[in-house]
Amino acid sequence: MRKYIVAGNWKMNKSLPEGIQLAKEVNAAVETAGALKCDVIIAPSFLHLTEVSKVVGKKVSVSAQNCAAEASGAFTGEVSAAMLQSAGIPYTIIGHSERRSYYGDTDAILAKKTGQALANGLKVIFCIGEELSQRDSGKHFDVVKGQLENGLFQLSVNELKNIVIAYEPVWAIGTGRTASSGQAQEVHAFIRKTLADKYGQAAADDVTILYGGSCNENNATELFSQPDIDGGLIGGASLVADKFIKIVTAF
Ligand code: PGA
Repeated sequence: MRKYIVAGNWKMNKSLPEGIQLAKEVNAAVETAGALKCDVIIAPSFLHLTEVSKVVGKKVSVSAQNCAAEASGAFTGEVSAAMLQSAGIPYTIIGHSERRSYYGDTDAILAKKTGQALANGLKVIFCIGEELSQRDSGKHFDVVKGQLENGLFQLSVNELKNIVIAYEPVWAIGTGRTASSGQAQEVHAFIRKTLADKYGQAAADDVTILYGGSCNENNATELFSQPDIDGGLIGGASLVADKFIKIVTAF
């Protein structure tokens, strides 16, 4: 069964006390919201993960924003999937466009990171999405397909069960320029078809595909009403508990 998910990507924001405070506020809002249609995830920085985990209850899961491509050893500044697993962190984001563009995370590296995460029992929120020039030249379907083929298609159908895909058009991230629900649905349906061609329709139907890119409390309901949009990966609007909870309850 396909799950709905709303995940907050805090990026490099919040001091440790501020992060704990925000996690407490999100947790309290989720607790009082009653029955939810979606799972809720928050992804603070590595530094915050264990402290934030302590202040959220069962209805809020915690995710890393990245993990190392290697298992262990002389990789200064890196955090391994095994370390995350040992700290009780159930998810990691992999392949965010900021990692791809600022830190040189290629498809090949992302495939290795995904392998590490799955080998250590983590679930992966795997991000894909085209840049503005690629959309303007009509290449967005090819870009997204390539990112899937080169980053994920080494996985077995069983491994795919632990993957959530986030479609985040780079031109919409942090820009206030959201993809229209029609534009997003078109790409989400294409992603599901690409998954179905590789893994079969039943497996593809079970994959949660999130939309990310200036998704906020005002546009979430419209986006989430689309048949292939199963929730959101939220940046800016996840940093304010009131806004984030409105997105969580937007289904
Ligand atoms: P945004 O970020 O909601 O601030 O556009 C989304 C993301 O990068 O995950």
